[in-house]
Amino acid sequence: LWKMQTFIERSIEDLKTRVGTSRVICGLSGGVDSAVTAALLLRAIGHQVACIFVDNGLLREGESDLVRKTFRDWFRADLHVVDAKDRFLSALKGVTDPQQKRKIIGKVFIDVFKAEAQHIPDARFLAQGTLYPDVIESGGAADGPAATIKTHHNVGGLPKELGFELVEPLRDLFKDEVRRLGTELGLPESLVWRHPFPGPGLAVRCLGEITPEKLATLRHADVIFLDELERSGWYRRTAQAFAVLLPVQSVGVMGDGRTYEDTIALRAVQTDDFMTADWSRLPEDLLARASTRIINNVKGVNRVVYDISSKPPATIEWE
Ligand code: XMP
Repeated sequence: LWKMQTFIERSIEDLKTRVGTSRVICGLSGGVDSAVTAALLLRAIGHQVACIFVDNGLLREGESDLVRKTFRDWFRADLHVVDAKDRFLSALKGVTDPQQKRKIIGKVFIDVFKAEAQHIPDARFLAQGTLYPDVIESGGAADGPAATIKTHHNVGGLPKELGFELVEPLRDLFKDEVRRLGTELGLPESLVWRHPFPGPGLAVRCLGEITPEKLATLRHADVIFLDELERSGWYRRTAQAFAVLLPVQSVGVMGDGRTYEDTIALRAVQTDDFMTADWSRLPEDLLARASTRIINNVKGVNRVVYDISSKPPATIEWE
């Protein structure tokens, strides 16, 4: 059992020796691993770090603000926020197939990231938030079959052609250690305890074709659900929780009239490794409050359902 301070001091030494006076690019996704990687690098080499955050228009409510506040305002980092919302949304126009969505998002992401990285002179290194379980899963090799699956599942997975040398300061750590390290480095709780969020973002939670209107509906419902989980202390008791916008309209009543509107599905799971998962037994009153708030506040939604499927055979995401 080693102390976090010792780890930090040693990592700082190693990073300084490794990168010298070159600049290091660090992609931020809004998730824990990339945030902790960036915070550690900033502690070690300060202004030599350039952070890139791609806003793909598929993020949750408040996500891009949290990254800006944390890294630009608080850490005073050189943060490059790329507003690529229109590029992603126009590339996704008319696309309904889940794997197709992933492919397009992955490709546009690499193009956008690459273009921004070229604006950073003297960059020789690219930092990635690879953790110990990712290292063992891929048999220590950076490109084994398991790594291929992982890359597909991870925004951090940028191709070698970018021409950078990799820096992976979290490779010896497990998730709980990364969280402790993040806290130690001064990251806010809301970042350190964040649930994982898929690279393709809300695109795989907005079933069928993606439109700005549907994304707005989903974002609104999702933030209400997460708020209810936080307030009741259930956010940390679930491994992942979110709303899904179904491509289903159903009949409702409002006053004297009939409505025919969208359905939101709520999903919350318990899991250790995300390979298998069980649905969370959320308290009834929590579900009731989330449902009422969503139906009363989110325009165009008249029905909320709760997903009680375990993985397998269902996956955690719906697409
Ligand atoms: P499933 O839906 O396969 O998800 O049970 C398992 C975990 O992986 C996440 N996930 C993804 N993450 N890109 C990612 O970066 C993806 O395409 C992707 N698909 C699923 C999912 O959120 C869950 O944590």
